[in-house]
Amino acid sequence: MIIGIQPSKDSFSDRWIDYCEKTHIHWNPVNCYKSNIIEQLSGCDALMWHFSQNSPKAILFAKQLIYSLETCGKKVFPNFHTCWHFDDKVGQKYLLETISAPLVSTWVFYNKNEAFEWAEKTGFPKVFKLRSGASSQNVRLVKTRQQAIKLISKSFGHGFPAYDPADSLKERWRLYRLDKTNFRDLLEGVARFAIPPPYAKVRGHERGYIYFQEFIADNDSDVRVIVIGDKAFAIKRMVRENDFRASGSGNILYDRSLFDENTIRLSFTMARKLKVQCVAFDFVYQGNQPLVVEISYGFSPAGYFSCPGYWDGEMNWHEGKFDPYGWMVENLISSIQYKT
Ligand SMILES: Nc1ncnc2c1ncn2[C@@H]1O[C@H](COP(=O)(O)OP(=O)(O)OP(=O)(O)O)[C@@H](O)[C@H]1O
Ligand SMILES: [Mg+2]
Repeated sequence: MIIGIQPSKDSFSDRWIDYCEKTHIHWNPVNCYKSNIIEQLSGCDALMWHFSQNSPKAILFAKQLIYSLETCGKKVFPNFHTCWHFDDKVGQKYLLETISAPLVSTWVFYNKNEAFEWAEKTGFPKVFKLRSGASSQNVRLVKTRQQAIKLISKSFGHGFPAYDPADSLKERWRLYRLDKTNFRDLLEGVARFAIPPPYAKVRGHERGYIYFQEFIADNDSDVRVIVIGDKAFAIKRMVRENDFRASGSGNILYDRSLFDENTIRLSFTMARKLKVQCVAFDFVYQGNQPLVVEISYGFSPAGYFSCPGYWDGEMNWHEGKFDPYGWMVENLISSIQYKT
């Protein structure tokens, strides 16, 4: 049994490789960006590739490659069910509604007049999002009908760049003031007005649709629960100062007592329905009720090192350090053995 692993910076891959080395699992480095990737994988039973939404090359073909391999019976991480909706909040709306998940009420329009009619009748504030983006980058509060109408006109006109340099500079400045980033990063934020990041050039403008969510007020944080197979762990991300957005704030809490077990149970149930290998659910709360705002298969390992333990599928708590990247490898291997 050999696993092909695509090494990538700041991803799961270093940890997969460490786990394989430690447990004597055979693995080969592969280069998915080469035209002969299928040939490279001919001696492998599986491919593991943690691709990012910000990689200008990976977003061109990662899903296509993965689904092709899966079609011919190769095991892959992430597989189709795990990643078809990655970085696609529009896709997630349909998927979460299909499984009757408690999704925050979400509207998507592909017609300008329909969107205008809706904006005339609905109440505000609402939350506007682009279908792609992470760390709250493309998420905005829409306080008034006038603001909504402006956004709708823009969506069905020029559209929105996948990267907003003004917003990004503001965020870099916030992080710099908190000593969470360096001066170089701040300067890069200025340079980005002239030179957008490569992924934004590849994506072009988002247009032709508009996406709104009900604004769930009075949340000082969001809760992210990650389910991998029959194990789950959680973090609580505090919102930025004078802002409703938590993701990317860098202010994360880990204590077990912060997490309501119903939310963990709900996450296990939804993960099973979604048939995913790995999923992060982001929740906000209306009173005691957890509401999903979005899902994602990928996350930055650094944000989770301090998790004090995890729950298993029977809701038993396992105190202490754990290795979710090893779980990904083990689950993939058992899926290979299960089939043969
Ligand atoms: N409908 C909503 N009501 C209230 N707060 C919300 C809502 N949607 C999102 N938020 C807040 O905004 C943040 C960013 O939203 P969301 O998770 O949808 O965007 P993202 O940029 O894709 O985030 P991530 O980095 O987690 O992938 C959330 O962490 C949450 O705090
Ligand atoms: Mg999120």
